[in-house]
Amino acid sequence: MSEVLLQIDGREVTAREGVTILEAAKSIGISIPTLCHHEKLEPYGGCRICSVEVDARGRTSIVAACLFPVEQDLVVRTSSKKLDRIRKSLLEMMLAHAPDSEQLQILAQEYGADRDRFEKEASFCIHCGLCVRYCAEIKKKNAVGFIDRGARKEICFIPEIASKECWDCKECFPLCPTSALQAAYVLTKALTFQP
Ligand code: SF4
Ligand code: FES
Repeated sequence: MSEVLLQIDGREVTAREGVTILEAAKSIGISIPTLCHHEKLEPYGGCRICSVEVDARGRTSIVAACLFPVEQDLVVRTSSKKLDRIRKSLLEMMLAHAPDSEQLQILAQEYGADRDRFEKEASFCIHCGLCVRYCAEIKKKNAVGFIDRGARKEICFIPEIASKECWDCKECFPLCPTSALQAAYVLTKALTFQP
């Protein structure tokens, strides 16, 4: 596969065609924040915290670094005032759902996000989809999924599958950036599993 030459934060990078900006940045030690990305899973682009600025073909745009593939002569900025503002707002919205998430709090501190900017809607889940995708793509079990849509979207274990598959797996638990997944599991277990 051929290689392309691009620039990230003023540094020249050679990367394999097809890799994402996130991977190319990582290869030279530049870290971009992520919340819904997992290197073993298909790209998802759900949280947008990895947003970066790219200049290509005379245009500047904001793209998700975990999805956008490298291109010859692409110029990428992984931090700027505009990106800081975007990340700050995204974090403030997520913190309304999961105010106690350690991962969000660390990022909030970095980007000066106000935990109390938006009214709390303690759903705890930030819809990163890591648990759902891990269970489907890696474990091939589909024991956990989303129900409903939009603001009412919730994580939910499928009791018939979870009662057989989850008790000795739980590999998705450490992936959750909040405590939503563990809480959903405990609830499903209490309500539906056999004693
Ligand atoms: S339960 Fe956790 S891992 Fe699953 S989608 Fe919600 S925040 Fe992400
Ligand atoms: S990490 Fe890229 S959109 Fe979530």
